[in-house]
Amino acid sequence: MSRNPRTPGGTAQFGEKDKLNVLILDDEVQFSEELGEFFRNSGFNPFIANTGQEGINVLRQQRVDLLILDVRLPGINGLDILRDVMVSHPGLEVIVVSAHGDMDTVIKAMRLGAIDYLRKPFRLADIQISIERTRKFFHLQQRLKLVEERNSLISESLEQKTDRQLIGASPQILKVLELAMTAASYPDTNVLITGESGTGKENIARIIHYASIRKDNLLFTVNSSSITESLMESEFFGHKKGSFTGALNDKKGFFEICDKGTLFFDEIADMPKNLQAKVLRAIEEKKITRVGDTEQVSTDFRIISATNHDLDKLVEEKKFRLDLLHRLNTLHIHIAPLRERPEDIEPLLDFFVKDFARKTNHSLPSIDKNLPAELKNYSFPGNVRELRNMAERAVILSKGNKLGIEDFPLRYSAKPPSGEESSGLNLHDTEMDVIRKALKASDYNQKHAASLLGISRDTLIRKMKKYNILIGKKEFIS
Ligand SMILES: Nc1ncnc2c1ncn2[C@@H]1O[C@H](COP(=O)(O)OP(=O)(O)OP(=O)(O)O)[C@@H](O)[C@H]1O
Ligand SMILES: [Mg+2]
Repeated sequence: MSRNPRTPGGTAQFGEKDKLNVLILDDEVQFSEELGEFFRNSGFNPFIANTGQEGINVLRQQRVDLLILDVRLPGINGLDILRDVMVSHPGLEVIVVSAHGDMDTVIKAMRLGAIDYLRKPFRLADIQISIERTRKFFHLQQRLKLVEERNSLISESLEQKTDRQLIGASPQILKVLELAMTAASYPDTNVLITGESGTGKENIARIIHYASIRKDNLLFTVNSSSITESLMESEFFGHKKGSFTGALNDKKGFFEICDKGTLFFDEIADMPKNLQAKVLRAIEEKKITRVGDTEQVSTDFRIISATNHDLDKLVEEKKFRLDLLHRLNTLHIHIAPLRERPEDIEPLLDFFVKDFARKTNHSLPSIDKNLPAELKNYSFPGNVRELRNMAERAVILSKGNKLGIEDFPLRYSAKPPSGEESSGLNLHDTEMDVIRKALKASDYNQKHAASLLGISRDTLIRKMKKYNILIGKKEFIS
């Protein structure tokens, strides 16, 4: 008799999320019904298949945690099925059912990776013992997975905690701090942070998160430009095991990981438009659906996003959705470039020098009294990050115990005389040239080159894309 896979007494049960799904693959109909009932009463979510093909169909359509496999199925060798599922479903555990006296098959099955076996005919007490063993095993496995997830998340958030101080004395930075504190006290309000590269957008995002009641949960940074487009949806929304090639396990996406925490969308302008629509829905509904799943999951996140692009312009150019922008910028914090707030240079310099001297066990050098004023003439295209890198370099390389302007090699001699570029200079070519030089000087190591330029690695990669600078076999191909 061939019937559709089902649970005992009805149609397939969906939605019993916390229960383990067990598939009983056995050609004896009555036996499998009884076994199914037994598993159901023991808190499992059972599926039944009476032929190899039915079994394969269930495995394709459902997440199955445990397979009870009769190795003597008509027309197909149960051991072949076992061998296949061990490869195609690595998280699946298998208990084989064999006839009395067929120890040879049992041994083969255990060698192939089955966790236990049951011999027919068996008493319900035998199954009970096996079920308890299996349940313990799954429990341990889940705990292990949780501990692993936690550890990786904890080390990430520890790292983030270390770099969040806001130094500055300018009215602009004090206003930024005031807005950040307002954002912290409204933990459900989405915040958009704008400003040039290196002005401290990510720093502010961290300050907001750690000053808010969400601080004990995760702050998770997502940079759209560093995720391949084909994986984006599953990275953001998670996926169900088997929903595409390579989806070996159920996986939570960013929105779920950040439940009760903060999701930081860095460089939001790089988010592809089709994803923007889905993200908008997630923000509006506070619910998501994993790829390949039908159920919705509620999640409580706050979004802080950052960009150094003009989003209004991108909206005009139809590259960014206006409705999403409205959702993201309930509170807008703009950080002015460092050249527009020269009062911050001295305290920042002081802070970075002390910080690096301490971290690297250098004796603390003094700062020449003319140095801050001289640095104020510089335009700091890489903003605070550039100043920080310069200070680090100066502390490491300076010979004497006083830092002067000679310890700060500036990229361009000074601020341009007016807002306009001097004639004959082309910003596009100059920038391209500087990037190439930095890459060369750092032996084509992008991280080092970005650090030399005082920009983040992501910004460097973006600019390399913009100027079509590719690195292949240590040569430029443009
Ligand atoms: N006001 C500040 N006080 C202390 N450190 C700061 C300040 N502003 C920026 N920084 C430091 O400067 C560096 C660059 O800042 P951050 O990464 O936040 O910039 P960003 O605006 O996100 O840059 P990008 O657009 O390139 O990603 C970081 O090390 C940050 O801690
Ligand atoms: Mg950043």
